[in-house]
Amino acid sequence: MKNFSIHLWLWFAASVAASSIRSRRATCTAAAQGWETLDDVPAINAAIAECGPTGGTILLDSQNSYSIRSRIDLTSCKQCELQIESQLHVTLNDFDFWWAQGSIFRIAGVDGLTIRSLTGKGLIDGHAQPFYNRPVKTRTLNAPHMMHITNSSSNVRISDLTLKNAPLRFFRLDGNSTGLRFNGINIDVHGAYSALSHAGREIFGFELADVSDVVIDTVNMNVGTDSNLETPHSTWPVGVCASFDRGTSNVLVANFVCTHAWRGVVSMQGNAATVNTFPQVTGKDVRDVYVRNLTFDGATAAYSGVAAGYTSSLEKRLDGSLHNVTWDGVTVVEGGALDGPRCNQGCTEAGCWGLCGCCSCTENYAEYCTASDGKSLYSGVTFKDFKGNLTTPANGWGCRGTQTGCDIRYEGWM
Ligand SMILES: *[C@@H]1O[C@H](CO)[C@@H](O)[C@H](O)[C@H]1NC(C)=O
Ligand SMILES: *[C@@H]1O[C@H](CO)[C@@H](O)[C@H](O)[C@H]1NC(C)=O
Ligand SMILES: *[C@@H]1O[C@H](CO)[C@@H](O)[C@H](O)[C@H]1NC(C)=O
Ligand SMILES: *[C@@H]1O[C@H](CO)[C@@H](O)[C@H](O)[C@H]1NC(C)=O
Ligand SMILES: *[C@@H]1O[C@H](CO)[C@@H](O)[C@H](O)[C@H]1NC(C)=O
Repeated sequence: MKNFSIHLWLWFAASVAASSIRSRRATCTAAAQGWETLDDVPAINAAIAECGPTGGTILLDSQNSYSIRSRIDLTSCKQCELQIESQLHVTLNDFDFWWAQGSIFRIAGVDGLTIRSLTGKGLIDGHAQPFYNRPVKTRTLNAPHMMHITNSSSNVRISDLTLKNAPLRFFRLDGNSTGLRFNGINIDVHGAYSALSHAGREIFGFELADVSDVVIDTVNMNVGTDSNLETPHSTWPVGVCASFDRGTSNVLVANFVCTHAWRGVVSMQGNAATVNTFPQVTGKDVRDVYVRNLTFDGATAAYSGVAAGYTSSLEKRLDGSLHNVTWDGVTVVEGGALDGPRCNQGCTEAGCWGLCGCCSCTENYAEYCTASDGKSLYSGVTFKDFKGNLTTPANGWGCRGTQTGCDIRYEGWM
């Protein structure tokens, strides 16, 4: 009898404690073991599994760095928060393992997630140099994205973080996700180079496809803060700061500083489908996009970067349209202002180049692309208030002669 009442009391006390923690929104702290060879992700995923479904906070604030050797899975999160106040270091030498994971952070089917650093010290380093510098003959795209937001995720906020050296996309946003907010993001890439232009197409700050209602505000992305001295191409620009692919709508990109990239903030239809990707891109057009206050500093080299415009991939269906897309307030420090080729990616009319394996030249994509180019409709595309050492595009720039509809405007260029 005595035993029973003690048990009852303990049970009562425990359930009161649990419910008060729940109402205060529990915090689960994941410890870091402090050894690069010991994966801290099982502890992080256990903290997510415990606090994520009840809307709690998962705190990563160890004095030690966290060793990331497997995928962080936020799928069970419901209105939860991941607070990163420490450094996370990814070990990325096993490409095949990581390729099968698809991403380092998986955010799939999540409604309500905040990832942020309150102290501003949160850092995620993908350590992708082995991937950037892999032998030319193995230049396949077998690597993960850093954060993949997909499968109809909604209400995801990511702020005040520093991200380094992601193998492919820093943020890949797709799968009908909506309500995504990014603020105060620093992105740095070191030691990538664009010999034969591979890395030019691999490293993206943000790649959007099949997403709506996205705000990307106050981002500083520097690709190539130190150049790779082993290659003669070290001054060439690398990567893309942000791109909009098929199915993207209702997007604002504001206050973006993009340095040393091959492309700034651009529409790139067809490109998302060319990398390690699930689910498939099902959307068709890019619409209702506003890019405001972009500063672009492409490299000065024989092959310089370009701030805005569209660079579509060579794909078999070239029926995607651009509607109501505005670039407003673009400062070009170095490099070009606009780019507009539709049939870009691996092969051109002149033949194959770069990552030739991505498309088969025997299929004659270039011919198909050129022939079907006229099907794409461009309406309400505006390039407004561009500043720099620029040449205003000639009338008709960016429109193909065969195009059924093309309405591209330039206002206030200096
Ligand atoms: C997306 O959600 C569906 C249904 O919930 C699930 O079967 C599928 O595995 C998820 N896909 C990804 C990439 O998470
Ligand atoms: C996105 O929506 C489209 C159209 O409703 C659908 O066909 C597609 O399967 C959806 N994709 C995902 C990943 O849910
Ligand atoms: C433009 O963006 C830069 C970089 O984020 C910022 O410092 C500046 O204040 C912004 N300018 C305006 C007018 O918002
Ligand atoms: C154009 O897109 C912006 C968002 O970028 C939106 O606010 C505006 O309503 C759109 N205009 C039209 C006519 O759809
Ligand atoms: C402006 O651009 C032209 C042509 O690209 C170049 O020759 C010239 O040196 C540039 N001037 C400055 C001040 O950068």
